[in-house]
Amino acid sequence: MFDLVVRNATLPDGQTGVDIACKDGTIAAVEAGIAADAGAQIDAGGYLVSPPFIDPHFHMDATLSLGTPRMNVSGTLLEGIALWGELKPVQSVEDIVARARRYCDLAVTMGIGAIRSHVDTCDPELKGVTALLQVRDAVKDYLDLQLVAFPQDGVLRDPEAMELTVRALDMGVDIVGGIPHFERTMADGAESVRLLCEIAAERGLMVDMHCDETDDPMSRHIETLARETQRLGLQGRVAGSHLTSMHSMDNYYVSKLIPLMVEAGVHAIPNPLINIMIQGRHDTYPKRRGQTRVRELRDAGINVGFGSDCVMDPWYSLGKADMLDVAFMALHVGHLSSRADMAWCFEAVTTNSAKIMGLEGYGLEPGSMANMVLLQATDPIEAIRLRAHRLAVIRSGRVIARSAAVTTDLSLDGGQTTIDPTSYAPKA
Ligand code: FE2
Repeated sequence: MFDLVVRNATLPDGQTGVDIACKDGTIAAVEAGIAADAGAQIDAGGYLVSPPFIDPHFHMDATLSLGTPRMNVSGTLLEGIALWGELKPVQSVEDIVARARRYCDLAVTMGIGAIRSHVDTCDPELKGVTALLQVRDAVKDYLDLQLVAFPQDGVLRDPEAMELTVRALDMGVDIVGGIPHFERTMADGAESVRLLCEIAAERGLMVDMHCDETDDPMSRHIETLARETQRLGLQGRVAGSHLTSMHSMDNYYVSKLIPLMVEAGVHAIPNPLINIMIQGRHDTYPKRRGQTRVRELRDAGINVGFGSDCVMDPWYSLGKADMLDVAFMALHVGHLSSRADMAWCFEAVTTNSAKIMGLEGYGLEPGSMANMVLLQATDPIEAIRLRAHRLAVIRSGRVIARSAAVTTDLSLDGGQTTIDPTSYAPKA
């Protein structure tokens, strides 16, 4: 007998009428017409069942702090940075834990199964680190949380940052972060990449750096990051986050850079909502879009996963833990509008990001972890079009969030029509 069977599901690869049976926290069978009994059943009604959404880039120490200690009135990055500087000394570990726990609850209801969060290590008390280590442990039964030691003020620019970042790693933070474009000079930025990658290599850790999050076409730290990845044998364990300067780089230079990134096996993490909001602010017209070369990176064979970066914090007032919002924005900004490209954008918030995080047992094959989300959509493109409603979230074969389908009764001309947003989908 199975613990749970999800019946009549459509899968992201287009298979329909599939039953998914779960036993002891893993997927036991994926096939049509599973006859065996189950402790619980869900009728998917032909809707899409996907492995959970994965957010490979987030800042959980700042999330849901909007309005504390005051609003970002101008909506600019500079005021956001100033605001974070005001918030850091006055917030307590308990404040951060409470906000992060609220965000984890929200994320789970939105079908997110894993988050990689950067945590600011430029704080003599390491309050964010202390808080998020507690949260990582508290949520582990329903959410995988990876933490990146992130010296927000520059590991060389801030004289205490290196010691604090190493201390954060000693405390149990999982991954080495950095922000080379924020160091004082290009040379310092390159040096910071070398030093931080060496720390990761010594400790056997992954690396995820905020890299070239600027409009400056000469910001080329991704080159150093890729080269250090090769030198230290870190292939497959390194990600470059943002990489926005690549949109402004000289095309000949990029023709050399991308093959280096391929050789180094670095992952790329654009953050479309935040990049389109923050980049290009110094431009008049035409204004640059501020998203890295997603199509070119993907076509070269680089693994690309989209991150959400911020939700209701000093830098970004919006967001609702919706990875389909993230895919929707990336699709538009990147001109990824062919049927194949749109479907790929769904992969960029699911399987590709799971690969970046190194999640084991991710997927919907027998033997995978029994983690999935039921969406009110019939395929991945429709899921992005509608930013589809989450009908059920399943973790370890157990339903942990449930919601009724969204329909609206329309009363016109004396009659009553029920509008189901999925009914406009073209039927193959
Ligand atoms: Fe970030």
